[in-house]
Amino acid sequence: MPSDPIFEPLAFRSLTVKNRIFRSNVSGRFDNYDGSGTQTRINWELKFARGGAGAIISSFVPVTIRGRIIPNYATIHTGERIPFWRELGRQVHQHDCKFILQLSHAGRQRDVPGIEFEKGLSSTDKKDPLHGFECERMSVDQIDEAVQAFAMGAWRAKEAGLDGVELHGANGYLITQFLSSGINDRKDDYGGSLQNRARFLLDIVRAIRARVGRDFHLQVKISATEYNDALVKGEERGNTVEDSIKVCQWLEAEGVDAIHVSCGSFFPHPRSPAGDFPLDELVKTYDTLISSGLLTLRNYLLLSGSVTGPLFQRQWERARGDRDRIQGLNLPDAQQIKEAVGIPVICTGGFQDAPVIRQALTSGACDAVSIARPLIANNNLVKMFAQGIDRPPVPCTYCNKCLVNAPENPLGCYEESRFRSRAEMVREIMTVFDPPPFQ
Ligand SMILES: Cc1cc2nc3c(=O)[nH]c(=O)nc-3n(C[C@H](O)[C@H](O)[C@H](O)COP(=O)(O)O)c2cc1C
Ligand code: SF4
Repeated sequence: MPSDPIFEPLAFRSLTVKNRIFRSNVSGRFDNYDGSGTQTRINWELKFARGGAGAIISSFVPVTIRGRIIPNYATIHTGERIPFWRELGRQVHQHDCKFILQLSHAGRQRDVPGIEFEKGLSSTDKKDPLHGFECERMSVDQIDEAVQAFAMGAWRAKEAGLDGVELHGANGYLITQFLSSGINDRKDDYGGSLQNRARFLLDIVRAIRARVGRDFHLQVKISATEYNDALVKGEERGNTVEDSIKVCQWLEAEGVDAIHVSCGSFFPHPRSPAGDFPLDELVKTYDTLISSGLLTLRNYLLLSGSVTGPLFQRQWERARGDRDRIQGLNLPDAQQIKEAVGIPVICTGGFQDAPVIRQALTSGACDAVSIARPLIANNNLVKMFAQGIDRPPVPCTYCNKCLVNAPENPLGCYEESRFRSRAEMVREIMTVFDPPPFQ
């Protein structure tokens, strides 16, 4: 019998992963306000390690406090965090699963800024057009500081014995705010041409290589196509896949080991994570953001309106495109990038069925897939594939209720129709607190 491409090991330059399924980054407010990690985060990650994922790519891990999206995500901004990440990595490794930490900086895209820094930093001083998050344009000294913060984050991840790092260069966070032709309006060496807009990212890669050497795995998540004008009329469309191909070639030349392909110049975006716009559920949690941006109260009222809410929902779902094409949404971009670089390409976006994943791998469109929501729904999806179950009996519906609950409630699957009762759903969500922090 021919071997299953899903279970072929994948060799990067300095890291080998046992199969082709990576748990994609999923953030949750599992940690302490100050960014110190908790047992709850370890419990969360172990669900996927036990479920058979070849590697876990962590949630958004801030490299500075000012760079967080929201409090209660474990950070890597100080050496004091190393023991936590070491313990998390040790436990994940017991399941023959690798752990790649996502080095991140939110820039202006901060859902809840917290008490330390009122304004975010960005390539620009324009507020973000969707929520009205305000920001300060970074000086060259601030850019240099951020570059060093990423490099120190990589060094700490290596010290913690983790298997590699990923730069969060996608979905509208700080690195995208530099890369994007739709956002970056600088007139200095960090703005204007594509080469200038990529300078911040390439500086980070060089600083990381100088700090950790050539042999520590380093990958970059990128929004290959930005669709920056998907929702707000008059916005520029942002970077195209042709722009991103050039950036990926420069990244490869600077010693990056893999590219992780996503899309969208803000997050969430109709195409990332692509699915439904769960209006009723969103109205219950968007209030958490009301004081964070200049447009958030307007948005809250708009979403709550009996006419405006459904209108916005329709606009969002129209911008997403055909619901039947959610699986492998970013594959055409991944394929074009793969044809242009020599390093492995990981593709994110909608993957859930084994035949779709096998086809993505054997067609040469990508070398691996990363999965977020279908693994939140079925933590043991990879084990199911290994047992010959090609589609989970109770699949993820792409309802996006997990996403809109995340700012307020524990991360988990909130699609009641997947459970026998609401009580069963809540019980499953709450398993992330088992074992508890003190025993
Ligand atoms: C609740 C939730 C949290 C997410 N958090 C992150 C994150 O911290 N960093 C990141 O790069 N992507 C994040 N994503 C995007 C996912 O990693 C993934 O790329 C996207 O959801 C598409 O994959 P899927 O269709 O398998 O969900 C998140 C997605 C969800 C649903
Ligand atoms: S709430 Fe559950 S079913 Fe809905 S998108 Fe999230 S994981 Fe999938």
